[in-house]
Amino acid sequence: MKFTKLGNSDLNVSRICLGCMGFGDPGRGQHSWTVDEEQTRGIIRRSLELGVNFYDTAIAYQSGTSEQYLGRALRDFAKREDMVVATKFLPRTPEEIEKGVSGQRHIETMIDTSLKNLGMDYVDLYICHMWDWQTPIYDILEGLNNAVKAGKTRYIGISNCFAWQIAKANALAEKEGFAKFVSVQGHYNLIFREEEREMVPYCAEENIALTPYSALASGRLSRLPGEGGTKRAEEDVYAKFKYDATAQQDGVIISRVAELARKHGVTMTEISLAWLLTKATSPVVGATKLHHIEGAAKATELALTDDEITYLEEPYLPHPLAGVMAQNKPANAKEKHVWSTGDQKIGAEK
Ligand SMILES: NC(=O)c1ccc[n+]([C@@H]2O[C@H](COP(=O)([O-])OP(=O)(O)OC[C@H]3O[C@@H](n4cnc5c(N)ncnc54)[C@H](OP(=O)(O)O)[C@@H]3O)[C@@H](O)[C@H]2O)c1
Repeated sequence: MKFTKLGNSDLNVSRICLGCMGFGDPGRGQHSWTVDEEQTRGIIRRSLELGVNFYDTAIAYQSGTSEQYLGRALRDFAKREDMVVATKFLPRTPEEIEKGVSGQRHIETMIDTSLKNLGMDYVDLYICHMWDWQTPIYDILEGLNNAVKAGKTRYIGISNCFAWQIAKANALAEKEGFAKFVSVQGHYNLIFREEEREMVPYCAEENIALTPYSALASGRLSRLPGEGGTKRAEEDVYAKFKYDATAQQDGVIISRVAELARKHGVTMTEISLAWLLTKATSPVVGATKLHHIEGAAKATELALTDDEITYLEEPYLPHPLAGVMAQNKPANAKEKHVWSTGDQKIGAEK
């Protein structure tokens, strides 16, 4: 395994981050295809043997059971101080807004719940899962800064945002003396490269780490179309929403991945991740089987030539935004986001 610094932080992370969305009680959440605690423990144990030290979960994953499984496994198999644990929080709920719960209070409740789920007294990276259009960003940033000051998280990151949003948020954080976002977890892989327009150059400029999610397009970059047949391939409706509409144009890229895999005598997973490793700090890779994490770890050893990279990139055409990013907009087109407490607040504490 290879390691690198996570952006402007002093966290030393493995070049592969194990995504934990596939872990958790399948009866308690968004996904029907997640694996139980015993299988989770096997995959985490194997990932540790392979040198992985970077784990990504979220309070949203299977109602906190992903956090619980991860926390228990790391407690049993690893030294806490050697691990880099990231989890994510959600926007304020309509009920919280109705009750006047502030963004600061919301974050305190969320991180306390996540730490309880994980059985840890701190996380290394606390990530804003998606942009919260209903809460002043000042309140979110102050809440996150309070969590850093209290020692509940070492650093903060953000997911599913536009480059202008993190740029403005980090400028505000700097002005106020708050902690700044050190990493961006965006949707980025060989068949979805919209991050390259603004986010990738912005992060390079600011030394912000890129930790792309759905690094394998939820399996589509690991096999040829029609070779699926896995439980996830059948049941993951969120991934179908993200990729089905563009499957035809993406097929050209996927067949080039297969061609290079044959040439190198490696798997398609290794080619797809080797490409992303040339762009990002640590791709977040999902695993529900032992061989998934083994394949991901191998990718860190493969170097593609410049010509191969060009060959993989050449057929790409711009894609419409998909998944969470397609919803990153105000409910009402005329509504402007409220940035600072000085402005009129949406849902201010009563
Ligand atoms: N921030 C966000 O909004 C957000 C959104 C989505 C995901 N995430 C994070 O990103 C992580 C990864 O996302 P993801 O699961 O959608 O994407 P992924 O890494 O693109 O796909 C994982 C899937 O690819 C297949 N796969 C993985 N390794 C393989 C291997 N070595 N050989 C063959 N197939 C392999 C498996 O599919 P099969 O089971 O079908 O074989 C596996 O379930 C999540 O766990 C989560 O931590 C974050």
